Amino acid sequence: MLNPFDMVLFGGGGDLALRKLIPALYRAYREGSLVNGCRVLPVCRRREDADQYLTTAHQALKQYLREGEYSDSSWDGFSQLLRPIALDIAVPNEQWEHLADILGTDPERVRIFYLAIPPAVFGPCCENLSIKGLISKNSRVVVEKPLGYNAQTSDEINSKIASYFPENNIFRIDHYLGKETVQNLLALRFSNVLFEHLWDAKSIDHIQISISETVGLEGRAGFYDETGALRDMVQNHLLQLLCLIAMESPNTMSAKNIRAEKIKVLEALRPLTGLEVDKNVVRGQYIAGDIDGQQVPGYLDELEGGVSSTETFVAIQAHIDSWRWAGVPFYLRTGKRMEKRCAEIVVQYKNVSHHVYDESAGKVIPNRLVIRLQPEESIKLVLMAKKMDSLTTELQPAELNLTLSDTYDSFHSDAYKRLMLDAAANNSALFIHRDEVAAAWAWVDPIIEHWRETNNQPKDYIAGSWGPKESSELLARSGRHWFNAK
Ligand code: BG6
Repeated sequence: MLNPFDMVLFGGGGDLALRKLIPALYRAYREGSLVNGCRVLPVCRRREDADQYLTTAHQALKQYLREGEYSDSSWDGFSQLLRPIALDIAVPNEQWEHLADILGTDPERVRIFYLAIPPAVFGPCCENLSIKGLISKNSRVVVEKPLGYNAQTSDEINSKIASYFPENNIFRIDHYLGKETVQNLLALRFSNVLFEHLWDAKSIDHIQISISETVGLEGRAGFYDETGALRDMVQNHLLQLLCLIAMESPNTMSAKNIRAEKIKVLEALRPLTGLEVDKNVVRGQYIAGDIDGQQVPGYLDELEGGVSSTETFVAIQAHIDSWRWAGVPFYLRTGKRMEKRCAEIVVQYKNVSHHVYDESAGKVIPNRLVIRLQPEESIKLVLMAKKMDSLTTELQPAELNLTLSDTYDSFHSDAYKRLMLDAAANNSALFIHRDEVAAAWAWVDPIIEHWRETNNQPKDYIAGSWGPKESSELLARSGRHWFNAK
């Protein structure tokens, strides 16, 4: 059980806080993880917003919680923990004294400063926390991506935060790491002899990591058009998943050991520069189409007449230069406005080395491990088996299925809840070290640089499809194909 803590939510009235953080804290309260004495202090810029906050948070919960999660009695209890305050983050005025009064002076009490604000104000925010003496030995800061725009800007942001908080007290969130199946992936890999022995270039043909979304810009045109899919999704979520799939077994599951192994993977990624970028990376941008029978506009229309070469889709063939992974391609793919919303990792095994059945038994399809992170969370192993009840031997694929939402009645994980509680418990295993951020940018930057130098234009793809045809061609060149979610 956690000790009582204070969570100060800078950007408390923003989209992230209302959509994700407040619902996550409400769930934590409902399951009894926020003990008596915990307080949540959403920070709003304007006094009127702070005065209205309880109404705003109440509406947000009703809007964003899943069916059956909201109840008036839980809201009554949870709302008692909310202490909204008005504060100008950039100006160290008397409003900060008010925050200091609320926080009090107990050095043992855990304080979490969650910066759900643009990185440009991380610096002033930390500086004012420091000027006002609010950073105690038990203070932690939680930061969200985007941590910069490239290696240099990310380093500047990290240095700024580091001048106020030691690395151990900095919790960099990648919400994908809080997803239950992602943690299950580690359990699967490191607690089953089956996978201990079948997890390398000798057995595996290739690995696909895909995150497809059906949404478009969701009112974030300004941010997204500056960012693009490579920075928004690959630099963080996809590379983090790649690390967990490819890393060596850590000696223990301590944050230090896990991070050390992840960094080795990032450093072993074969650099993609110059012509290698053209050969191994596909960029796309959606044009109008339809998704689930609904007509949706193209990216440029969503930008309202803008001209842009920002990618909304990217597919990459990557290699990890290590003994374990020599010759095994890793295919990474993500895009907006695709046919289905799905995040999935497919481990494609090699075929058996010798076929003992004759052709009449049918084709042997190589084994496949499919780890689905969303919309539902499941792990599936596709094997070959004999068709039941037939006198002749006919082979057919059969599935070993571990669908978590079936096994655990109405199971739904909440990545943010998990990560916020981990920060409160000082458990940083699922957070990202500064060196990981730097290593990920070091791999991504040259790709962006090459696109810029060559004025690379994204290929069109129709909204509601699986991306530009060049993405399929990337795999077809070696006789492979994408496994698209059904
Ligand atoms: C965010 C990106 O990090 O992840 C968004 O900025 C994206 O563009 C989102 O939509 C996807 O998260 P999830 O959990 O909905 O797959």
